Amino acid sequence: NQRKNIEDNAKDQQLEPFRVENEGTKMTTNQGLRVSNDEDSLKAGVRGPTIMEDFHLREKITHFDHERIPERVVHARGFAAHGEFELYESMREYTKAKFLQDPKKKTPVFVRFSTVVGSLGSMDTARDVRGFATKFYTDEGNYDLVGNNIPVFFIQDAIKFPDLIHAVKPEPHNEMPQAASAHDTFWDFVANNQEIAHMIMWHMSDRTIPRSFRMMEGFGVHTFRFVNDRGRSRFVKFHWKPVLGVHSLVWDEAQIIAGKDTDFQRRDLWEAIEIGDYPEFELGVQILEPEDEFKFDFDILDATKLWPEELIPVKKIGKMTLNRNVDNVFAETEQVAFHPGNVVPGIDFTNDPLLQGRLFSYLDTQLIRLGGPNFAEIPINRPLCPVHNNQRNGFSRQAINLGRVSYHKNSLANNTPATSTAREGGYVHYEEKVEGRITRARSKSFDDHFSQARLFWNSMSPPEKQHIIDAFSFEVGKVKSKSVRQQVVDMFVRVDKAMATTVAENVGVNPPSGEQSKVTASSPALSQANTIKLPYT
Ligand code: HEM
Repeated sequence: NQRKNIEDNAKDQQLEPFRVENEGTKMTTNQGLRVSNDEDSLKAGVRGPTIMEDFHLREKITHFDHERIPERVVHARGFAAHGEFELYESMREYTKAKFLQDPKKKTPVFVRFSTVVGSLGSMDTARDVRGFATKFYTDEGNYDLVGNNIPVFFIQDAIKFPDLIHAVKPEPHNEMPQAASAHDTFWDFVANNQEIAHMIMWHMSDRTIPRSFRMMEGFGVHTFRFVNDRGRSRFVKFHWKPVLGVHSLVWDEAQIIAGKDTDFQRRDLWEAIEIGDYPEFELGVQILEPEDEFKFDFDILDATKLWPEELIPVKKIGKMTLNRNVDNVFAETEQVAFHPGNVVPGIDFTNDPLLQGRLFSYLDTQLIRLGGPNFAEIPINRPLCPVHNNQRNGFSRQAINLGRVSYHKNSLANNTPATSTAREGGYVHYEEKVEGRITRARSKSFDDHFSQARLFWNSMSPPEKQHIIDAFSFEVGKVKSKSVRQQVVDMFVRVDKAMATTVAENVGVNPPSGEQSKVTASSPALSQANTIKLPYT
């Protein structure tokens, strides 16, 4: 079946020239010279010293010495698969993106699932957010939806991302703990950056110990824009809904599995695809008219807030099927480069200050991770449509650019940017009107950190609440600093007093002194809400 998928899929055909089959071949050096002996180095006498002349030994060892590349600074441990996305219904009214126009249109995809914190060799079942990054190889260039399995994020502004990651990664003096958030610096960050409250409620829930990559949701998190062919823009949030539904492990299972099979989730994905039980995810969108931007009690540019699905329903617009395992994990899974800035006409950004910073970070990190400016030429990163521009040279350049013209404007080569017409498809940024004084101040509309955290808690069933209390008790209980443990319960009393009081007891600190927050929603819809309809509840 998987070979059949290769024949059917344009992306796989594009990868075909790069596939190298060694079976039944004669071994050569990298220069193509046939090798006669790959076991004994060239020596002066059978017991004598190895001699410099042994080009085969030198080439083999040198290549080995350079095999490693830096792991991703976050999301280092991941696993990926190929597949296709099929549209259910035309989205022409909302977006001019070509892959979203014609029902039944199929677009090749490559998806990488990951954990955030652990290093490349850490375990799959750590309590952690999961990355869910999808590359659509569209006719108009690659579109990357680089999401997570939680609909909100830890922080509101990209400038805090290095701080968040420094706090959650292993502590620098002893490189512990490897892949967990159960340590002082993480909880110190939590208590001192209270915008994190909502995300931490999700983090302590069963969502961060998914049973399988096949059974978790994905979220674009940020508010993006759809722009149609008449130039009308609407706000959009992206969702992936697993056809198998959302299922989690319980903490005891997660810990036992971590000891017995650190590859549990990659094995599950690999085996499902090998036996033809292809994972499927439906793509959903929440669409918001521009005139409704300020209708809610939260700011739609604030990545610590979700759009409640009872207020803005999720419309399912297509389905992704993962139907082929990679041939080579390094070549594909490790070398793939996702970037939220890879968009196509009809999809655009908003002023979410977290998204804006991400637009800088991914290309920047990939320049070092993948060894220079030509990583878009690595087979897995190549778009299916042609690439033409005046960028030249650099380490490991593959393209052999013909002609003498590598500048714009010119009269000698007659190569120009495209117009934005449907026929030519040049990307034009949405002409949003922007005005304001230059400032580092944060909008007051980003100030409410507890309403949605509290609604989340209220929405949980009793067993789910117990799991959250257990998770807080386990994670915060590992914090050595009593002051940090106290600060955490004093913070989460604002979500729920009884919860924080129980956690305080479990982690050996005083009962929290504060009071739980009111849901401060100003919109009629949320101010009366005691719970919130969560994705897949
Ligand atoms: C990976 C930065 C927020 C999802 C990465 C990488 C960096 C990064 C540097 C490594 C990329 C690579 O080496 O190829 C940031 C910054 C953020 C941020 C600066 C905030 C300002 C987010 C958010 C999400 C997210 C909000 C989810 C919506 C991912 C995923 C990957 C990733 C899924 C792994 C991609 C893969 O599988 O290769 N991020 N990130 N990140 N990030 Fe972010």
